[in-house]
Amino acid sequence: MSHILIQNIRILAGVDPSGCRPMAKGEAMCQLPVIENAYLWVEGPVVKAFGPQSECPDIPDARKVDAVGRLVLPAWCDSHTHLVFAATRESEFVGRIQGLSYEEIAQRGGGILNSARRLNEMPEEALFEVSWERLQEVRRKGTGAIEIKSGYGLNLEAELKMLRVIRRLKEKSGMLIKSTFLGAHALPLEFRSRRSDYIRQLIEAWIPAVAHEQLADYLDVFCEKGFFTPEETGRILDAGARWGLKGKIHVNQFHSIGGVQTAIRHSALSVDHLEVMTKEDITDLASSTVIPTLLPSAPFFLNDPYPPARQLIDAGMGVALATDFNPGSSPSGSMPLVLTLACTQMGMTPEEAIQAATLNGAYAMEVQDLAGSIAPGQFANLIITQPASALAYLPYAFGTDWIDTVLLNGDPVAPGAFRLF
Ligand code: NIG
Ligand code: FE
Repeated sequence: MSHILIQNIRILAGVDPSGCRPMAKGEAMCQLPVIENAYLWVEGPVVKAFGPQSECPDIPDARKVDAVGRLVLPAWCDSHTHLVFAATRESEFVGRIQGLSYEEIAQRGGGILNSARRLNEMPEEALFEVSWERLQEVRRKGTGAIEIKSGYGLNLEAELKMLRVIRRLKEKSGMLIKSTFLGAHALPLEFRSRRSDYIRQLIEAWIPAVAHEQLADYLDVFCEKGFFTPEETGRILDAGARWGLKGKIHVNQFHSIGGVQTAIRHSALSVDHLEVMTKEDITDLASSTVIPTLLPSAPFFLNDPYPPARQLIDAGMGVALATDFNPGSSPSGSMPLVLTLACTQMGMTPEEAIQAATLNGAYAMEVQDLAGSIAPGQFANLIITQPASALAYLPYAFGTDWIDTVLLNGDPVAPGAFRLF
């Protein structure tokens, strides 16, 4: 077993000696546990021990790394992405600059349906290759665990193709990857006059097929005006529950139409987006166990209002942050950018944003026992920064490459200038 001893770390953040840190909620969101001037011992793929540098053990056969002046934190847990897609959509981006809205583009058969056409045309192998490249890119940006959705197939064969690609990404990378079936992402044009047929086949044939092949961990629905109603969403979530698939659903991106309440009634794991929230949505969510997941790069890119993160946290909730990496509303899988947007646009503190992007993200995809903290026995999924004096430097220094080295399962995937890796 290989040993790495990282010494003289200026700040070691997200530490958890117990290995069972509860989700950070409300006021506790800003209480990020840190050790200043610390050591960290990695044994094979996992964290073995850590503590103050003054207590650093002597491990003769360890590779020693001097991290003086640097910060070390858990790799990101990005709990909401659509990383498997065939083609980018920059022509719609230009359309939006010229005044079309995201919803108008979707109404005209662009948007998700445009991505579905391109994905249906692409052979599975080519889809795997482009997705693999994207996964490498987000790993270099510090992502250590990731959820990936289907939803650009919109017929059984193409949805299964996407889910098989996600499974291969997981097998080949050895990464913590959770897979979500999003057959109810948009209604294909040919079903516009018979939407109940689409939903019936989704419920009666597709969900059972996906579950039977164990291709998904979760189920998602785009609950939104012009997409799927709360009533349809409820029926789809019911069907998922019969097959053991919990909901992680898109709600309140453009309108508040009851998606939050539907998610609560069906014990969803998370509700994602939340750009448009009524007082009632916030109160209902606060008294539930559903995790609010905020995706600030989508409103940044679509020029929409941001989710009311401050109100959610001040009402006692723990929020998670994720990228929503997709070709329409967030063509970026950068968690460092999300961190900055969380602070500058949603009023989160750097500590809150880091907890939301690591620990709470891990909870939002149920990998909190394996990742999201620096804890004995958890994967050594770590970000080592360039020299920096405080954690606040990370969201502050947006657009600069402040990540030096990324270790996943104890291996450097992004060996930076940090010469020892
Ligand atoms: O989370 N809102 C629904 N799904 C994605 C966008 C998908 C797309 O435009 O391709 C989202 O924003
Ligand atoms: Fe999304």
